[in-house]
Amino acid sequence: MLETLNESHSASDHPALVEIVKVTKIYPPDVVALRNVSLSAAKGELIFLTGPSGAGKTTLLKLLCRQEIPTKGLIEVDGNDLTTLSDNAIQNLRQRIGVAYQDFKLLPRLSVFQNIAMPMEVQFRSPRDIRNRVTELMEKLGIREKQHKPAGKLSRGEQQRVAIARAAANSPLLLLADEPTGNLDAATTGLVMALFQELNENGSTIIIATHDESIYQGTNHRKFELQQGELF
Ligand SMILES: Nc1ncnc2c1ncn2[C@@H]1O[C@H](COP(=O)(O)OP(=O)(O)OP(=O)(O)O)[C@@H](O)[C@H]1O
Ligand SMILES: [Mg+2]
Repeated sequence: MLETLNESHSASDHPALVEIVKVTKIYPPDVVALRNVSLSAAKGELIFLTGPSGAGKTTLLKLLCRQEIPTKGLIEVDGNDLTTLSDNAIQNLRQRIGVAYQDFKLLPRLSVFQNIAMPMEVQFRSPRDIRNRVTELMEKLGIREKQHKPAGKLSRGEQQRVAIARAAANSPLLLLADEPTGNLDAATTGLVMALFQELNENGSTIIIATHDESIYQGTNHRKFELQQGELF
């Protein structure tokens, strides 16, 4: 059912990994966050989602990891219709989706290392694999010297990098990054984008919601803009 995605894929010769068809999301009673949005992302693609505050970017990412369900329309990830999947299948699929939340959602008392290791522990990866991968990610994002600190005691920019490392830990099938450079300086933004680039080259499909023009200007990746819930 859920195929594994270890090999790298090129965007063009593979079917869509994400298929959003005519999706409307209304938060009760009457907030229309998304209106008739359709978007498809090929396997191995990297896509930017822009638009002003309140336009619906976070809502779209929440629908893709089934944190919210659409009011109308269809959402498929890797061929699975998210509205009809069993709870078990959802859990399974979620383990292959990495999410770097806009508000981080770290466990503040756990260390940087423990936060990043969490998705690998859920998958019962070996302690050695976990140590190697977490160390590699901390080095790439410049937070290795913070590894024993409780996440709650870090600066926002450091917490943001922990959230990104945790989302990347399992080299997910789909990585959703919500405003991932919002608290970072230009140099650190470069580290984060280099990590995304590398994950993408290794086959992860990536959707980045952002206000930060510097990260999409001059790239060849597709960019979509949301305005008041409509996609352009
Ligand atoms: N849980 C919720 N309940 C009710 N309304 C919500 C909820 N979450 C978001 N909204 C509303 O839905 C709309 C879209 O919000 P969303 O968070 O998706 O925007 P965004 O593009 O991510 O904005 P930002 O750039 O500020 O993060 C907004 O009008 C917001 O107030
Ligand atoms: Mg948002």
